[in-house]
Amino acid sequence: MARGWPVMLEDGRVGLRPLRVRDAATWSEVRIRNERWLSPWEGRPESQPTATWADRHSPVVFTAMLRNVRKESRAGRTLPLAVTYDGRLAGQVTASNVIRGAFDSASVGYWVDAAVAGRGVLPTALAMLVDHCFGAVGLHRIEANIRPENVASRRVVEKLGFREEAMHLRYLFIDGAWRDHLSFAVTREDVPDGMLRRWHAVRPAPP
Ligand SMILES: CC(C)(COP(=O)(O)OP(=O)(O)OC[C@H]1O[C@@H](n2cnc3c(N)ncnc32)[C@H](O)[C@@H]1OP(=O)(O)O)[C@@H](O)C(=O)NCCC(=O)NCCS
Repeated sequence: MARGWPVMLEDGRVGLRPLRVRDAATWSEVRIRNERWLSPWEGRPESQPTATWADRHSPVVFTAMLRNVRKESRAGRTLPLAVTYDGRLAGQVTASNVIRGAFDSASVGYWVDAAVAGRGVLPTALAMLVDHCFGAVGLHRIEANIRPENVASRRVVEKLGFREEAMHLRYLFIDGAWRDHLSFAVTREDVPDGMLRRWHAVRPAPP
């Protein structure tokens, strides 16, 4: 197994755990219900034949995706985690593109069910993942790439103290076009006492 994988983490009502085969029906229901909430922010290959959102989020697709990410996570290339709220599947946070060697870096991606938005669920989840990556996984840098228009996502990284580092032009193919992204990053030195601890100190109230 790869360093720091598998992992289960918890802070109050928010949990992180690997995705499971039995998440298929719930994942499919949540993703399909949130199409309008999620589709403006999620990339897909430009070359992919046009399949509907519902087709791309069926339980069968989930199971195939899970088989692939399990292989990738055992190889240490990704840490794909379910975000739970009061024990129920409420989103995902993933550290992917894990590069070792002199870089020791990964990119994060995330979403939550609109039904639990605005409660600090995702910042709590991301802070736990960053601390785990800087601890057991042994990474040095985490980056997040966000469309400038995505105010909610920018607030997440701002509140957690990521640094704005760059603007990447035509970076990801999202919602039918190549979209510019702002790049934010944090390195281990930035959070000597941990990101979750810092988040606890600044957030208005626990989720
Ligand atoms: C970005 C996202 C993960 C934030 O998760 P969250 O758990 O709601 O995060 P927070 O509770 O910290 O809220 C972040 C911001 O969302 C906005 N917000 C607050 N309540 C909201 C609500 N009920 N509905 C929508 N947005 C809300 C606010 O701007 C908030 O910032 P603030 O704390 O300064 O007021 C979530 O909005 C989401 O899943 N969006 C769609 C997918 C996406 O954009 N993924 C990231 C791609 S880079």
